[in-house]
Amino acid sequence: MQAAAFTDLVGPDGVRVVDRPDPEPERGEAVVDVEACSINRHDLWILEGDSAMVDADDLPFVSGLDVAGTVSAVGPDATGVEPGDRVVLCPNETCGRCRFCRDGPENLCENFSLYHGGLAERARVSADRLVALPDGVDAATAAALPTAYMTAYRMLQRAAVEAGDRVFVPGATGGVGVATVQLCDALGLESVGTSRSPAKLDRVRDVGLDRGIESADTDEIEAAIDEPVDAVVNHLGGEYSKLGQSVLRRGGTMVVCGRTAGGTSEFDVADLFLGHKRIVGSTMGTQPDLQRLVELVADGAFSPLVNETYPLAETGAAFAAMAERESVGKLVVAP
Ligand SMILES: NC(=O)c1ccc[n+]([C@@H]2O[C@H](COP(=O)([O-])OP(=O)(O)OC[C@H]3O[C@@H](n4cnc5c(N)ncnc54)[C@H](OP(=O)(O)O)[C@@H]3O)[C@@H](O)[C@H]2O)c1
Ligand SMILES: [Zn+2]
Repeated sequence: MQAAAFTDLVGPDGVRVVDRPDPEPERGEAVVDVEACSINRHDLWILEGDSAMVDADDLPFVSGLDVAGTVSAVGPDATGVEPGDRVVLCPNETCGRCRFCRDGPENLCENFSLYHGGLAERARVSADRLVALPDGVDAATAAALPTAYMTAYRMLQRAAVEAGDRVFVPGATGGVGVATVQLCDALGLESVGTSRSPAKLDRVRDVGLDRGIESADTDEIEAAIDEPVDAVVNHLGGEYSKLGQSVLRRGGTMVVCGRTAGGTSEFDVADLFLGHKRIVGSTMGTQPDLQRLVELVADGAFSPLVNETYPLAETGAAFAAMAERESVGKLVVAP
Protein backbone atom coordinates (compact mmCIF):
# COMPACT_ATOMS: atom_id res chain seq x y z
CA MET A 1 0.00 0.00 0.00
CA GLN A 2 1.00 3.63 -0.25
CA ALA A 3 1.41 6.02 2.66
CA ALA A 4 2.25 9.71 2.92
CA ALA A 5 5.21 9.57 5.28
CA PHE A 6 7.19 12.29 7.01
CA THR A 7 10.74 11.54 5.81
CA ASP A 8 12.33 14.75 7.09
CA LEU A 9 11.06 16.98 9.91
CA VAL A 10 11.41 20.20 7.90
CA GLY A 11 7.76 21.14 7.35
CA PRO A 12 5.55 20.42 4.31
CA ASP A 13 8.54 19.64 2.01
CA GLY A 14 9.32 16.65 4.20
CA VAL A 15 6.34 14.56 3.06
CA ARG A 16 6.87 11.69 0.57
CA VAL A 17 4.60 8.95 -0.70
CA VAL A 18 6.24 5.63 0.23
CA ASP A 19 5.38 1.95 -0.24
CA ARG A 20 4.54 0.08 2.93
CA PRO A 21 3.57 -3.57 3.51
CA ASP A 22 -0.19 -4.09 3.72
CA PRO A 23 -1.12 -4.23 7.42
CA GLU A 24 -2.49 -7.46 8.91
CA PRO A 25 -4.85 -7.14 11.86
CA GLU A 26 -3.61 -8.61 15.15
CA ARG A 27 -5.69 -9.63 18.17
CA GLY A 28 -8.50 -7.14 18.80
CA GLU A 29 -7.60 -5.10 15.72
CA ALA A 30 -9.20 -4.20 12.42
CA VAL A 31 -7.80 -2.92 9.16
CA VAL A 32 -9.62 0.05 7.68
CA ASP A 33 -9.42 1.00 4.00
CA VAL A 34 -8.88 4.72 4.52
CA GLU A 35 -11.22 6.86 2.46
CA ALA A 36 -10.43 10.08 4.31
CA CYS A 37 -8.03 11.28 6.98
CA SER A 38 -8.18 14.86 8.18
CA ILE A 39 -5.02 16.62 9.28
CA ASN A 40 -4.49 18.65 12.42
CA ARG A 41 -1.93 21.16 13.62
CA HIS A 42 -0.72 18.31 15.83
CA ASP A 43 0.54 16.55 12.66
CA LEU A 44 2.13 19.81 11.49
CA TRP A 45 3.98 20.20 14.83
CA ILE A 46 5.44 16.71 14.23
CA LEU A 47 6.33 17.53 10.62
CA GLU A 48 8.06 20.73 11.71
CA GLY A 49 10.12 18.85 14.33
CA ASP A 50 8.25 20.63 17.12
CA SER A 51 6.75 17.63 18.91
CA ALA A 52 8.33 15.58 21.68
CA MET A 53 6.46 12.54 20.31
CA VAL A 54 8.51 12.00 17.15
CA ASP A 55 12.20 12.54 16.38
CA ALA A 56 14.62 11.65 13.57
CA ASP A 57 14.91 8.05 14.85
CA ASP A 58 11.20 7.49 14.13
CA LEU A 59 11.42 8.41 10.42
CA PRO A 60 9.80 7.68 8.07
CA PHE A 61 6.75 8.43 10.21
CA VAL A 62 3.15 8.05 9.08
CA SER A 63 0.97 10.52 10.93
CA GLY A 64 -2.79 11.08 10.68
CA LEU A 65 -5.22 10.57 13.57
CA ASP A 66 -8.65 11.11 12.10
CA VAL A 67 -9.44 8.07 9.96
CA ALA A 68 -12.73 7.26 8.23
CA GLY A 69 -13.33 4.42 5.80
CA THR A 70 -14.47 0.84 5.48
CA VAL A 71 -13.32 -2.15 7.52
CA SER A 72 -11.55 -4.64 5.23
CA ALA A 73 -10.31 -7.22 7.75
CA VAL A 74 -10.62 -8.05 11.43
CA GLY A 75 -8.19 -9.94 13.68
CA PRO A 76 -8.96 -12.60 16.31
CA ASP A 77 -11.24 -11.42 19.13
CA ALA A 78 -12.07 -8.15 17.38
CA THR A 79 -15.64 -7.49 18.40
CA GLY A 80 -18.24 -5.01 17.26
CA VAL A 81 -17.11 -4.58 13.65
CA GLU A 82 -16.90 -6.71 10.56
CA PRO A 83 -15.58 -6.30 7.02
CA GLY A 84 -17.73 -3.90 5.04
CA ASP A 85 -18.65 -1.69 8.01
CA ARG A 86 -18.27 2.05 7.45
CA VAL A 87 -16.48 3.58 10.43
CA VAL A 88 -14.65 6.54 11.93
CA LEU A 89 -11.80 6.06 14.38
CA CYS A 90 -11.64 7.59 17.84
CA PRO A 91 -7.86 8.19 17.97
CA ASN A 92 -7.63 7.99 21.78
CA GLU A 93 -5.24 5.35 23.09
CA THR A 94 -5.83 4.54 26.74
CA CYS A 95 -4.52 1.90 29.12
CA GLY A 96 -7.89 0.58 30.33
CA ARG A 97 -6.42 0.05 33.81
CA CYS A 98 -5.90 3.42 35.50
CA ARG A 99 -8.49 5.11 37.70
CA PHE A 100 -9.56 7.47 34.91
CA CYS A 101 -10.09 4.60 32.48
CA ARG A 102 -12.21 2.92 35.16
CA ASP A 103 -14.06 5.95 36.47
CA GLY A 104 -13.87 8.32 33.49
CA PRO A 105 -13.49 10.47 31.61
CA GLU A 106 -11.18 8.28 29.54
CA ASN A 107 -9.28 11.21 28.02
CA LEU A 108 -7.70 11.78 31.46
CA CYS A 109 -6.04 8.33 31.22
CA GLU A 110 -2.67 8.41 32.99
CA ASN A 111 -1.11 6.69 29.97
CA PHE A 112 -3.05 8.66 27.34
CA SER A 113 -1.68 8.63 23.84
CA LEU A 114 -2.91 9.06 20.28
CA TYR A 115 -3.21 6.83 17.23
CA HIS A 116 -1.04 7.79 14.24
CA GLY A 117 -1.04 6.14 10.81
CA GLY A 118 -4.11 7.37 8.93
CA LEU A 119 -2.25 9.09 6.08
CA ALA A 120 -2.14 5.81 4.17
CA GLU A 121 -4.33 3.59 2.05
CA ARG A 122 -4.92 1.23 4.97
CA ALA A 123 -4.78 1.65 8.72
CA ARG A 124 -4.43 -1.00 11.42
CA VAL A 125 -6.44 0.12 14.45
CA SER A 126 -8.03 -1.13 17.67
CA ALA A 127 -11.42 -2.51 16.66
CA ASP A 128 -13.03 -1.17 19.84
CA ARG A 129 -12.05 2.39 18.88
CA LEU A 130 -14.21 2.31 15.75
CA VAL A 131 -17.51 4.17 15.69
CA ALA A 132 -20.14 3.10 13.14
CA LEU A 133 -21.09 5.64 10.47
CA PRO A 134 -24.73 6.09 9.51
CA ASP A 135 -25.43 6.03 5.75
CA GLY A 136 -25.90 9.78 5.43
CA VAL A 137 -22.44 10.67 6.80
CA ASP A 138 -19.70 10.55 4.16
CA ALA A 139 -16.06 9.71 4.90
CA ALA A 140 -14.63 13.24 4.53
CA THR A 141 -17.29 14.64 6.86
CA ALA A 142 -16.65 11.88 9.39
CA ALA A 143 -12.86 12.31 9.21
CA ALA A 144 -13.23 15.98 10.10
CA LEU A 145 -14.83 15.11 13.44
CA PRO A 146 -12.50 13.24 15.79
CA THR A 147 -9.71 15.55 16.92
CA ALA A 148 -11.09 19.03 16.23
CA TYR A 149 -14.79 18.57 17.01
CA MET A 150 -14.32 16.11 19.86
CA THR A 151 -11.85 18.50 21.51
CA ALA A 152 -14.12 21.51 21.00
CA TYR A 153 -17.16 19.60 22.25
CA ARG A 154 -15.36 18.51 25.42
CA MET A 155 -14.06 22.07 25.98
CA LEU A 156 -17.61 23.44 25.84
CA GLN A 157 -18.65 20.80 28.36
CA ARG A 158 -15.72 21.74 30.63
CA ALA A 159 -16.85 25.38 30.43
CA ALA A 160 -20.32 24.28 31.63
CA VAL A 161 -21.99 26.63 29.15
CA GLU A 162 -25.75 26.95 28.91
CA ALA A 163 -27.97 27.97 25.98
CA GLY A 164 -27.71 31.71 25.41
CA ASP A 165 -24.15 32.02 26.82
CA ARG A 166 -21.51 33.95 24.85
CA VAL A 167 -18.36 32.09 23.91
CA PHE A 168 -15.16 33.80 22.76
CA VAL A 169 -13.11 31.84 20.20
CA PRO A 170 -9.80 33.52 19.33
CA GLY A 171 -8.68 31.98 16.03
CA ALA A 172 -12.16 30.99 14.86
CA THR A 173 -11.18 29.85 11.35
CA GLY A 174 -9.16 26.63 11.85
CA GLY A 175 -10.08 23.09 12.87
CA VAL A 176 -10.86 23.59 16.57
CA GLY A 177 -12.01 27.19 15.96
CA VAL A 178 -14.66 26.40 13.34
CA ALA A 179 -15.69 23.29 15.28
CA THR A 180 -16.36 25.46 18.33
CA VAL A 181 -18.34 27.98 16.29
CA GLN A 182 -20.47 25.26 14.69
CA LEU A 183 -21.10 23.53 18.01
CA CYS A 184 -22.03 26.87 19.60
CA ASP A 185 -24.53 27.36 16.80
CA ALA A 186 -25.96 23.86 17.21
CA LEU A 187 -26.16 24.20 21.01
CA GLY A 188 -27.79 27.65 21.08
CA LEU A 189 -24.70 29.56 22.22
CA GLU A 190 -23.54 32.90 20.87
CA SER A 191 -20.03 32.93 19.37
CA VAL A 192 -17.52 35.76 19.06
CA GLY A 193 -14.49 34.84 16.96
CA THR A 194 -11.32 36.39 15.55
CA SER A 195 -9.12 36.02 12.49
CA ARG A 196 -6.56 38.19 10.76
CA SER A 197 -8.40 37.41 7.50
CA PRO A 198 -11.76 39.05 6.74
CA ALA A 199 -12.40 36.59 3.88
CA LYS A 200 -11.94 33.60 6.18
CA LEU A 201 -14.20 35.16 8.82
CA ASP A 202 -16.92 35.59 6.19
CA ARG A 203 -16.84 31.85 5.50
CA VAL A 204 -17.14 31.11 9.22
CA ARG A 205 -20.08 33.53 9.49
CA ASP A 206 -21.77 31.35 6.84
CA VAL A 207 -21.55 28.34 9.19
CA GLY A 208 -22.82 30.12 12.28
CA LEU A 209 -20.32 32.66 13.66
CA ASP A 210 -22.39 35.40 15.35
CA ARG A 211 -19.71 38.05 15.60
CA GLY A 212 -16.35 38.22 13.84
CA ILE A 213 -13.48 40.51 14.84
CA GLU A 214 -10.98 41.03 12.05
CA SER A 215 -7.76 41.44 13.96
CA ALA A 216 -4.72 39.64 15.32
CA ASP A 217 -3.89 42.46 17.74
CA THR A 218 -4.94 41.47 21.25
CA ASP A 219 -5.42 45.08 22.44
CA GLU A 220 -7.61 45.82 19.44
CA ILE A 221 -9.62 42.62 20.00
CA GLU A 222 -10.06 43.40 23.71
CA ALA A 223 -11.34 46.87 22.87
CA ALA A 224 -13.81 45.41 20.37
CA ILE A 225 -15.38 43.08 22.95
CA ASP A 226 -17.61 45.49 24.86
CA GLU A 227 -19.52 42.90 26.87
CA PRO A 228 -17.76 40.18 28.93
CA VAL A 229 -18.13 36.60 27.70
CA ASP A 230 -19.26 33.55 29.69
CA ALA A 231 -16.58 31.24 28.33
CA VAL A 232 -13.40 31.26 26.24
CA VAL A 233 -12.31 28.35 24.06
CA ASN A 234 -8.58 29.00 23.77
CA HIS A 235 -6.54 26.86 21.38
CA LEU A 236 -3.94 29.58 20.71
CA GLY A 237 -2.23 30.10 24.09
CA GLY A 238 0.49 32.76 24.09
CA GLU A 239 -0.84 36.30 24.46
CA TYR A 240 -4.39 35.08 23.74
CA SER A 241 -4.66 33.60 27.24
CA LYS A 242 -4.33 36.99 28.92
CA LEU A 243 -6.79 38.41 26.41
CA GLY A 244 -9.22 35.56 27.11
CA GLN A 245 -8.95 36.11 30.85
CA SER A 246 -9.57 39.83 30.53
CA VAL A 247 -12.76 39.49 28.45
CA LEU A 248 -14.15 36.72 30.68
CA ARG A 249 -17.04 37.64 32.97
CA ARG A 250 -16.90 37.14 36.74
CA GLY A 251 -17.12 33.42 37.46
CA GLY A 252 -16.57 32.55 33.79
CA THR A 253 -14.37 29.73 32.47
CA MET A 254 -11.54 29.73 29.94
CA VAL A 255 -10.64 26.29 28.61
CA VAL A 256 -7.19 25.92 27.03
CA CYS A 257 -6.20 23.16 24.61
CA GLY A 258 -3.38 24.52 22.47
CA ARG A 259 -0.31 26.69 22.05
CA THR A 260 -0.31 27.83 18.42
CA ALA A 261 0.50 31.43 19.40
CA GLY A 262 2.90 30.49 22.18
CA GLY A 263 3.67 27.87 24.81
CA THR A 264 3.69 30.28 27.75
CA SER A 265 1.07 32.81 28.84
CA GLU A 266 0.76 35.49 31.49
CA PHE A 267 -2.20 35.69 33.85
CA ASP A 268 -3.49 38.52 35.97
CA VAL A 269 -3.55 36.82 39.36
CA ALA A 270 -5.68 39.38 41.21
CA ASP A 271 -8.27 39.41 38.42
CA LEU A 272 -8.33 35.61 38.58
CA PHE A 273 -9.24 35.40 42.27
CA LEU A 274 -11.22 38.58 42.63
CA GLY A 275 -13.20 37.69 39.52
CA HIS A 276 -13.71 34.05 40.58
CA LYS A 277 -12.55 32.99 37.11
CA ARG A 278 -11.61 29.47 36.15
CA ILE A 279 -8.84 28.51 33.72
CA VAL A 280 -8.77 24.84 32.88
CA GLY A 281 -6.80 22.62 30.52
CA SER A 282 -8.40 20.06 28.24
CA THR A 283 -7.17 17.45 25.78
CA MET A 284 -9.25 15.57 23.22
CA GLY A 285 -12.61 14.10 24.35
CA THR A 286 -14.15 10.72 24.93
CA GLN A 287 -15.35 8.10 22.49
CA PRO A 288 -18.96 8.72 23.61
CA ASP A 289 -18.35 12.40 22.68
CA LEU A 290 -17.41 11.28 19.17
CA GLN A 291 -20.45 9.00 18.99
CA ARG A 292 -22.67 11.93 19.98
CA LEU A 293 -21.06 14.14 17.33
CA VAL A 294 -21.66 11.53 14.63
CA GLU A 295 -25.32 11.41 15.74
CA LEU A 296 -25.60 15.20 15.65
CA VAL A 297 -24.20 15.27 12.10
CA ALA A 298 -26.51 12.42 11.02
CA ASP A 299 -29.45 14.36 12.50
CA GLY A 300 -28.46 17.47 10.54
CA ALA A 301 -27.56 19.59 13.61
CA PHE A 302 -24.39 20.73 11.83
CA SER A 303 -22.10 19.67 9.01
CA PRO A 304 -18.34 19.95 9.58
CA LEU A 305 -16.66 22.51 7.35
CA VAL A 306 -14.18 20.75 5.07
CA ASN A 307 -12.16 23.35 3.19
CA GLU A 308 -10.51 21.04 0.70
CA THR A 309 -9.81 17.36 0.02
CA TYR A 310 -6.37 16.33 -1.31
CA PRO A 311 -5.20 13.07 -2.88
CA LEU A 312 -2.52 11.20 -0.91
CA ALA A 313 0.23 12.43 -3.25
CA GLU A 314 -0.64 16.03 -2.33
CA THR A 315 -0.50 15.59 1.44
CA GLY A 316 2.45 18.03 1.55
CA ALA A 317 0.28 20.69 -0.12
CA ALA A 318 -2.40 20.18 2.53
CA PHE A 319 0.18 20.83 5.26
CA ALA A 320 1.48 23.87 3.34
CA ALA A 321 -2.06 25.32 3.26
CA MET A 322 -2.29 24.83 7.03
CA ALA A 323 1.15 26.33 7.68
CA GLU A 324 0.37 29.34 5.46
CA ARG A 325 -2.96 29.90 7.30
CA GLU A 326 -4.80 29.74 3.98
CA SER A 327 -7.59 27.36 4.87
CA VAL A 328 -10.88 27.56 6.74
CA GLY A 329 -12.08 24.61 8.82
CA LYS A 330 -10.66 21.18 8.11
CA LEU A 331 -8.28 19.81 5.49
CA VAL A 332 -8.81 16.22 4.43
CA VAL A 333 -6.54 13.76 2.63
CA ALA A 334 -8.39 11.10 0.66
CA PRO A 335 -6.14 8.08 -0.04
N1 LIG B 1 -5.17 19.37 23.42
C1 LIG B 1 -5.86 18.80 22.45
O1 LIG B 1 -6.47 17.76 22.61
C2 LIG B 1 -5.93 19.48 21.12
C3 LIG B 1 -6.77 18.99 20.12
C4 LIG B 1 -6.84 19.67 18.92
C5 LIG B 1 -6.05 20.80 18.73
N2 LIG B 1 -5.22 21.20 19.71
C6 LIG B 1 -4.40 22.41 19.54
O2 LIG B 1 -5.26 23.47 19.17
C7 LIG B 1 -4.61 24.31 18.23
C8 LIG B 1 -5.45 24.42 16.96
O3 LIG B 1 -5.39 23.21 16.24
P1 LIG B 1 -6.06 23.12 14.81
O4 LIG B 1 -5.76 21.77 14.28
O5 LIG B 1 -7.44 23.63 14.90
O6 LIG B 1 -5.15 24.21 14.02
P2 LIG B 1 -5.45 25.07 12.74
O7 LIG B 1 -6.59 24.49 11.98
O8 LIG B 1 -4.17 25.26 12.03
O9 LIG B 1 -5.89 26.48 13.39
C9 LIG B 1 -5.88 27.61 12.59
C10 LIG B 1 -6.37 28.79 13.42
O10 LIG B 1 -5.30 29.26 14.23
C11 LIG B 1 -5.06 30.62 13.93
N3 LIG B 1 -3.60 30.83 13.96
C12 LIG B 1 -2.67 30.12 13.32
N4 LIG B 1 -1.44 30.57 13.64
C13 LIG B 1 -1.62 31.59 14.49
C14 LIG B 1 -0.75 32.47 15.19
N5 LIG B 1 0.57 32.37 15.06
N6 LIG B 1 -1.28 33.40 15.99
C15 LIG B 1 -2.62 33.51 16.13
N7 LIG B 1 -3.50 32.71 15.50
C16 LIG B 1 -3.02 31.76 14.69
C17 LIG B 1 -5.62 30.87 12.56
O11 LIG B 1 -5.99 32.24 12.53
P3 LIG B 1 -6.11 33.10 11.16
O12 LIG B 1 -7.53 32.93 10.69
O13 LIG B 1 -5.84 34.49 11.60
O14 LIG B 1 -5.11 32.55 10.20
C18 LIG B 1 -6.82 29.94 12.55
O15 LIG B 1 -7.96 30.56 13.13
C19 LIG B 1 -3.22 23.74 18.05
O16 LIG B 1 -2.33 24.37 18.96
C20 LIG B 1 -3.40 22.29 18.41
O17 LIG B 1 -2.22 21.65 18.80
C21 LIG B 1 -5.15 20.56 20.89
ZN1 LIG C 1 -5.83 4.65 31.66
